[in-house]
Amino acid sequence: MTAIRFDHVSKWYPRYQSLSHGIKSSLLHLPETLRSLKRERIRILEQVSFGVEKGETVGLIGPNGAGKSTSLTLMAGVVEAEDGEVIVCGRISPLLELGAGFHFDLTGAENIMLHGVLLGLTRREVISHMSAIIAFSELEGSIHQPLRTYSSGMIARLGFAIACHLDPEILLIDEILSVGDLSFQLKCNAKIDEFKRQQVTIVLVSHSMAHVQRLCDRVIWLEKGKVIGEGAPSKILEEYEKSVTLRHVEGRSSAA
Ligand SMILES: Nc1ncnc2c1ncn2[C@@H]1O[C@H](COP(=O)(O)OP(=O)(O)OP(=O)(O)O)[C@@H](O)[C@H]1O
Ligand SMILES: [Mg+2]
Repeated sequence: MTAIRFDHVSKWYPRYQSLSHGIKSSLLHLPETLRSLKRERIRILEQVSFGVEKGETVGLIGPNGAGKSTSLTLMAGVVEAEDGEVIVCGRISPLLELGAGFHFDLTGAENIMLHGVLLGLTRREVISHMSAIIAFSELEGSIHQPLRTYSSGMIARLGFAIACHLDPEILLIDEILSVGDLSFQLKCNAKIDEFKRQQVTIVLVSHSMAHVQRLCDRVIWLEKGKVIGEGAPSKILEEYEKSVTLRHVEGRSSAA
């Protein structure tokens, strides 16, 4: 059974331009300026098609700016595709980029409540999960402090603890495992193994080849918004590493 399907998905974002005619002239011709700002768009994903089966753990890899996080935000329904179709079957628990969706003036506990309610739980349901989430995050000492006082590892812990305790059928994880300390990484790995046994579908975005190799059943390689490889982790990771190394060597020899 398919949990996620991307069918020829394309996504554009506006290209933000500098006001090349100067601020004064741009303000004087405001309607024209606004029209030109709206017109310019860049394609982030181009005709991307792939499927994720229920219970599978799929890794999304590729260089910075390849479109990995954009793909996850499409799966989470945070943004919509202009072209093609995104089909998701199951309750999603998104753990998007570090701190995304969090409010930094609210405390850790308030953020747990906010996230839970936004993901469709009642206040009572969130309260029933609250102590388990706090215990898993090991943030008891700071849970009533505003998030702006947290370190990146603490934010990652809170995000992962929330995502894990909202009974997900599909878990989206965007580059968060490597932010936490070793003990947190071991805990995440154990939790992900448990989810895999329970047939939870997982999409993992990571630059850690070790994490992808260990956790994923299949890997999709994105580059400049296109899928350029898909298959067994060992095969795709080897091809990816070769391509990155080759580009690095070429870059060094042309700079010499
Ligand atoms: N809200 C936005 N508005 C305009 N452009 C955006 C927006 N979000 C992402 N982009 C652009 O889309 C492209 C893909 O970004 P995305 O965040 O999906 O990359 P990524 O593969 O997750 O990269 P990284 O490995 O650095 O996290 C980038 O060029 C980025 O600048
Ligand atoms: Mg990203």
